[in-house]
This record gives sequence, C-alpha cells and structure tokens, in this order.
Amino acid sequence: MNILLLGSGGREHALAWKIAASPLVDHLVCAPGNAGIAREAECIGLDIASHAAVAAYCKANHIDLVVIGPEGPLCAGLVDDLEAAGIKAFGPTRVAAQLEGSKGFAKDLCRVNNIPTAAYERFRAAGPAKAYARARGAPIVVKADGLAAGKGVVVAQSMAEAEAAIDMMFGGGLGGAGTEIVIEELLQGEEASFFALCDGDTAIALSTAQDHKRAFDGDQGPNTGGMGAYSPAPVIDEAMSARVSAEIIEPTLRAMKAMGAPYKGVLYAGLMITAEGPKLIEYNVRFGDPECQVLMLRLMSDLVPALFASRDGQLKSFDLRWYPEAALTVVLATKGYPGAYAKGSVIEGLDQAASVEGVEIFHAGTRAEAGKILADGGRVLDVCALGSTVEQAQARAYEAIARIRWPEGFCRRDIGWRAIERERRLPAK
Ligand code: AMP
Ligand code: GLY
Repeated sequence: MNILLLGSGGREHALAWKIAASPLVDHLVCAPGNAGIAREAECIGLDIASHAAVAAYCKANHIDLVVIGPEGPLCAGLVDDLEAAGIKAFGPTRVAAQLEGSKGFAKDLCRVNNIPTAAYERFRAAGPAKAYARARGAPIVVKADGLAAGKGVVVAQSMAEAEAAIDMMFGGGLGGAGTEIVIEELLQGEEASFFALCDGDTAIALSTAQDHKRAFDGDQGPNTGGMGAYSPAPVIDEAMSARVSAEIIEPTLRAMKAMGAPYKGVLYAGLMITAEGPKLIEYNVRFGDPECQVLMLRLMSDLVPALFASRDGQLKSFDLRWYPEAALTVVLATKGYPGAYAKGSVIEGLDQAASVEGVEIFHAGTRAEAGKILADGGRVLDVCALGSTVEQAQARAYEAIARIRWPEGFCRRDIGWRAIERERRLPAK
C-alpha cells in the first residue's frame, strides 16, 4: 500500500522510520519532509494548506492512507476534506481537533463531564479577566484559547505578570489565538504525557513520556517545543495509567461521541500528577514532538495496522506490543533557539554518532546540499537511544552527541534527570 505522511519535524522522521519498516507498505511519500526523512520516504513539495491539492495528489498517486503529523492541518479540517473526497486519513476531524484547537472547548468538556482539571474561567475582555485573576490571586495561569505554537501559556508568578499576559493576549500579541483566553489555577505535582490511540469508541493506551520544555539545564530558560524526552514516565505506573484511562481519556471519548464528533487518532493528554490524582493540563490531538520519537523506538508492533484500525473504528480487540527498555531523546538545537537563530551551518559526524549501540538519530530541521547535512531550523536533530535503564539510554545518547561536530548547535546535558534520580533511589526490579 501507499502512504502519504505530512510534516517535516523529528516526529515525522520517527513516524516515517516506523511506517517504512512495515512489510505492508510499498511506497511512503512525505510532504515536505527533511534530509533524514528522505532516507525513508520520497519527499515531495505539496501545498498542504490547499486541501484540494492534497486530495488530488492522493487520487493521482493511489494513496491508501494520509498520516498527518502536526496539529495545524488537523484543526483546519484536512481529515474532513480528505474523507469527503474518499481518501482515508488518520487523525481527528476539525470539530474533534478542537480538543487542542480551543482550550476553552477542552476545559468546558472537562467541567461538564467531571474530568479532573484545574479550576478555570473563560474570558473575552481584559476587565473581567483581571478581576477574576485578582480574586484568585497569584500564582495563576493565563492561556490563549487558540493555537499559539507553544507561546500561548503564561504561568504568572505575580498579579503584575498575570495582568501583562492578559493585556498582551487581548492586545493581539498572539494574533487570533488570543481573542478569547482561559485563566486557571496553577496545579502542583509532576508533569507527564499520556498517549492513547482512539477510534471514536475505543482508546488503547500507547505509552507515557516526560518532556523537557525549558531551553536550559535544570529546567531554566524560556519554554521551547521540547528539548528532550524519555519513555516510559515512571510517575505513571500501572495503577495511575488505569486512573488516567478511566477518569480522563474514556469520559472524553464518550463525550466527543455524544456530541456527534467521535474522536479518532492520537489523543495526547498533558497531565499533572497531583496529590489528589491525575489532572488534565491540556489535550493535544497528535503525537508529541519529541515524545513520538521515544514512543516509536519502544514500539515493537507494526504501526501501520494500528493507524488503519484507528481510522476504521477497529481498535476494540487490538493489541500493541512494546519493548520493555527505556528510550530517551536529546534535542540538538541551533544556538539562539527558541529565539532568533541562523540557518545553513554544516553538521558532521552523524554516521559515527549513529553507530553507538542502541542509538537512532532522527532529523527535525535539516536539509541536504551537495552531500552535506545543513541545519535548517530551531530544533535540528533528535539523538535517541534505547537502554535497559533511563541512565543507560542517556549515556548512549550523550556518547553519540559527543561524536557530532556542529559548533553552532547546543543541547541540554540533563535530559532524563528526574527518572535517573528515581532509578538511583529505587533500583530496577
Ligand atoms: P504548552 O501549552 O504545551 O505550551 O505548555 C504549557 C506548560 O505550562 C505546561 O507544560 C505546564 O508546564 C504549564 N502549565 C499549563 N497549565 C498549567 C497549570 N494549570 N498548572 C501548572 N502548570 C501549567
Ligand atoms: N513536546 C510537546 C508537544 O509536542 O506539544
């Protein structure tokens, strides 16, 4: 069969690597892809914003399934338009994708269905928003309702900071994403990500991961798309996983179905594991990046039948197998990220790095030119490794990084610290 994958990041390279390994796949095409994806797939230029152009390409090239990596095209209704044209697509419809596309929508769904989440209110004007924030007191969290490329959340430590965030959002600082905002209580606990594969009725737990959102060691510096991750997340043991499914994921699926928008695709729950139990911070309607990279390394089963089962409503008796090892990924980014950075610097030593035992390198923002690999984005490479422990996976990833020659790049040196501290306290069974 023929599969079209949309996207260009490390998440899509990991998906391409896993999809290309499936014996079911004859041809994998990726638009637009990157230099690493080009080793797994035919990369093409395609105007993804034009749903008609994507559908026409699929018809002409006998595409059996379209797999959409990022949230933008999902929230824009690409799945709806492809399905209407008779093309199978993996992921939620436009209405179902509001779980990520509108924070207010997701919060209201939680309120109506008793899904544990931070106390909140929605606002369309600065005056009432500030009054609510003052009544609750700092610290408090201010969120733009719409998609804001990771910049839509301000954890305000003081009332001045909260008011500045409210003014920035209503002042158009985040464009249309900030026409409406959510103000909510700050949750205390350990953050983790929980992934489920859904078919409208059934959700099967994929696995868990922990991300490192801050740019610098010790969780310092500005927020980024994610500087590294590992899987599984030890804070979500089997009992906690069962609670997340029963208290958060399953009620969400039931509610989406009841409103006539059954949820299909990957449901990514950003969670705070609090003293009272798991609480939903936010939903995403796609795989995380870089969490997808560590999930794909640990997935033993063929991914492709699972993608079809999600699309076709056939997950009920589906089973996915995972390697018991830990997987960890360290993101190499261009100096300056998440602020301004230069493109075009040369990266060397990737083959030597990839030869370290257990290591797999996914490209996030690269292009190939005259036989060289050039940096072409903020997040550029994901150096991933499997290990019997997170500590071993971490050692392998950093050993590989030591072989990469790229003076214009940087990475965090402490990815996995929380899990490694826990491993040292509670040595593995
Ligand atoms: P994102 O929306 O992915 O940019 O991430 C926002 C980040 O802000 C989360 O990963 C949390 O670390 C933090 N955050 C958002 N909402 C809350 C909350 N209610 N309580 C505590 N932390 C939060
Ligand atoms: N790594 C966070 C995200 O994909 O949203």
